Amino acid sequence: MVFSLVSSAEEHQGRRSMAMKGSLLDFLQGWMLIPWRIFIEVYTNLYRPSISKDEGEHVPDMDASDTTVDEREMRHWTKLAETWWDPEGEFALLRGFNTTRIPFIIKTYQRLLPKQSADFSDFDYPLKGLKVIDVGCGAGLVSEPLVELGADVTAVDMVPEIIQIAKTHWTQTHKGARGPEYPEYLCEPVEELAKSREGYYDMALCLEVLDHVGNLPPFVEHCCKFVRKGGCAIFSTFNRTTAALLLGIIGAEHLLRIVPMDTHHFHKFVKPSELTEMISSHGLRTVSVHGSFPLNPFARRPKWVDIGYTGVTYVLVATRD
Ligand SMILES: C[S@@+](CC[C@H](N)C(=O)[O-])C[C@H]1O[C@@H](n2cnc3c(N)ncnc32)[C@H](O)[C@@H]1O
Repeated sequence: MVFSLVSSAEEHQGRRSMAMKGSLLDFLQGWMLIPWRIFIEVYTNLYRPSISKDEGEHVPDMDASDTTVDEREMRHWTKLAETWWDPEGEFALLRGFNTTRIPFIIKTYQRLLPKQSADFSDFDYPLKGLKVIDVGCGAGLVSEPLVELGADVTAVDMVPEIIQIAKTHWTQTHKGARGPEYPEYLCEPVEELAKSREGYYDMALCLEVLDHVGNLPPFVEHCCKFVRKGGCAIFSTFNRTTAALLLGIIGAEHLLRIVPMDTHHFHKFVKPSELTEMISSHGLRTVSVHGSFPLNPFARRPKWVDIGYTGVTYVLVATRD
């Protein structure tokens, strides 16, 4: 019974299943599964290993091994790989997020990084001189615009199919176009990459990834290692609150159908205080936390706005002093 309900939810993957587009049955299934989904998310969260010292032992999330990869997540993202750059596809919400996150990355660079390493007079390439690593880059929704703005980008993801789509998309869309370099796309675990790139980057980005990894504390530790002294990191993710469960999972996946079913799991969400505690033990200091929210979630590619409320999704900025 349990498994048939879960697998009927999984069958929704790989399609943009907005309520208006799906069949009536599809639509009703989404609604009928809501009580079950709430039960399973709350239940799993109750038995989630603690990720905060306040709640007991500081033990790794998910499994006992050191890998930061969650195999179930890898299968999920592989199924969706083809749809990354489809304008009608599953990632419209994330693409819409670029309306706030790209300007935010530029502002953070100009505000936090020492002026001597930046050339702010180049208006065409405001990120010229910035060495950035985009961890969990997907097919390059953020990496591509950053390169177009002049940054030197390393983009890493653990799904080989997605990395291949990212490379192909860049090649097809940038033949002879502007952009001084191309992203260095890698399919390599952060725990390996951090060995050779420790302290190499001005900025580490970890956008919408934390709730998809297998072992959160070591993953965060390795992301922090990439940041040089004086550099910064930007993390964006879901908060672990009732509002995030209702809006981010039930609202977005079951009611509005704007996020593929089974993408997010409540027990993997992380509170800003927990993230702050994790990064501080690896030398990063949180300098700001703010919320962001889609202005009109029904829009094909919704515009996101910055808000003070961090209870659903939030963006945390940290520096290595
Ligand atoms: C929601 S997508 C975010 C994509 C991109 N950061 C963005 O915001 O447009 C999550 C991505 O994290 C990747 N991911 C999950 N676990 C990972 C890991 N341990 N190391 C690197 N990437 C991982 C997935 O393959 C997927 O592409």
